[in-house]
Amino acid sequence: MATHLRSQADVLVVGAGAAGLSAALHLAPFRNVLVLSKESVRGSTTNRAQGGIAAVWDPADSLEAHEKDTLNAGAGLCDPKVVEFVVAKANDVVANLLDLGVEFDRDGDDVHLATEGAHSFRRVLHVADATGLAISSKLIEHASNHPNIETRSDRVVIDLVTSVKLGRNDQSVFGAYVYNRRLDRVETVSAPCVILATGGASKVYKYTSNPDGATGDGIAIGYRAGCRVANMEFNQFHPTCLFHPEARSFLISEAVRGEGGRLILPNGERFMPRFDPSGELAPRDIVARAIDFEMKRLGIECVFLDASHLPSSKIKDRFPQIHHKLQSVGIDMARDPIPIVPAAHYTCGGVLVDRHGSTDITGLYAIGETACTGLHGANRLASNSLLECLVFAMSSARHILSQNRARDNANPDIPDWDESMVTNSDEDVVLTQNWSELRRFMWNYMGIVRTDKRLESASRRIALLKNEVYDYYSNYRVNSDLLELRNLILVADLMVRSAQWRKESRGLHYTIDYPQTNVRGIPSVLHPRRDPLDVFQPARSAALG
Ligand code: SIN
Repeated sequence: MATHLRSQADVLVVGAGAAGLSAALHLAPFRNVLVLSKESVRGSTTNRAQGGIAAVWDPADSLEAHEKDTLNAGAGLCDPKVVEFVVAKANDVVANLLDLGVEFDRDGDDVHLATEGAHSFRRVLHVADATGLAISSKLIEHASNHPNIETRSDRVVIDLVTSVKLGRNDQSVFGAYVYNRRLDRVETVSAPCVILATGGASKVYKYTSNPDGATGDGIAIGYRAGCRVANMEFNQFHPTCLFHPEARSFLISEAVRGEGGRLILPNGERFMPRFDPSGELAPRDIVARAIDFEMKRLGIECVFLDASHLPSSKIKDRFPQIHHKLQSVGIDMARDPIPIVPAAHYTCGGVLVDRHGSTDITGLYAIGETACTGLHGANRLASNSLLECLVFAMSSARHILSQNRARDNANPDIPDWDESMVTNSDEDVVLTQNWSELRRFMWNYMGIVRTDKRLESASRRIALLKNEVYDYYSNYRVNSDLLELRNLILVADLMVRSAQWRKESRGLHYTIDYPQTNVRGIPSVLHPRRDPLDVFQPARSAALG
């Protein structure tokens, strides 16, 4: 029998996007850090972020104005103290990015500031239309040169090892079981501190701007370990994803509308002013719903984003990546309207954390899209997400360093992963079938417009899938498709349960049955259940039962 693979770190970071790598870099001068990623480190959602990072830079702008825009977009559910905290830290994290060598676009002597929906000032620092890629490249470069950071790719975390699972009474984390895709083996990592930074869960929908890895792993792992999650009904649909058979999941940045791009119907009519006085620059929930409404009203497959009135040189300079991508599918955005549809883009809810990114479990942190910090409320303001990633990377790292949870806290007796009661599966079709079924009904029943009946249908289907996948998980060896599907189903369940709880329409949650917005906004908080289908304790890990 193969020897079990074991390793130790002071801090285990799960996820190698902006949040995870930035936290690792803050910690590395003082702790050794192991960073795990599912794909290569270049596969994170950060790499796809086009718009930029919001910060008060223009002297005419103010922290109060950025806070107000964030609170307005969040539709009464942001935590004002967290908003104040994050907005105030924006210039520190931008300074840190400049130190790392990120070269934001310039306008003469200063950085160029773009704008996007619902911002009252130009305040989006960007690197053309590929800001995430530029930030991520610098973070990767610095992390890979740091002697205290080890990155391992092709690793899927199965579950955390916590004191409760080891039969103790307190609530703390000791490490994780990790599936090594390359070796097809399960490893154990011991660590007294774990940061979940795996991104969001938009892959739960059939159409998304996110990469394949956005399967809500951190949210599901955190919930199974015993953390509360909040605001899971608020999934943001980006209004403008390219609609083309050869290029699914490609985003057309909101910055195109920021520079004057107009949304039009097939007959050329501009429709957004009918829905909101801010037109194309209304908050995303309003724009996405307006597009959905027009598509359903006219029975059309897409609407169009028209930037053809902008100077062609401006388009090429400002949007080189988008221009190039569109050209590759035969669209010249300097001449042709771009066919677009809304697509799932960002998970506003997540593992409930405080301002240090601390969860309900000692030593366990959640940051970035995995977390619900209170910044986004019921709808995220564009370009506040990279900001949140970097601010909470810093605050969680500082908290970890101040707590001094030493490596001795890592439990030396984590039992090996036990596969003696499972076999190899010869029924992988169950996974592919359930995977596409889940994503289809989530799009249809838990999409931009909801009703009680649709949510009930989604809930019934989720219960069936949960049982099937639990059965599969209990009887067969794990693989990455199974682990991702198991996470995605749990996250879908959390989303639908949260949506069913909310008897009003607010921000990104719009239901025909309750079109009103209640006077008082209350976050939806789900407490982990002892339901075995949620805890998903496999028979083979009886030692941890
Ligand atoms: C975009 O460029 O439109 C995306 C920016 C964001 O989601 O914040």
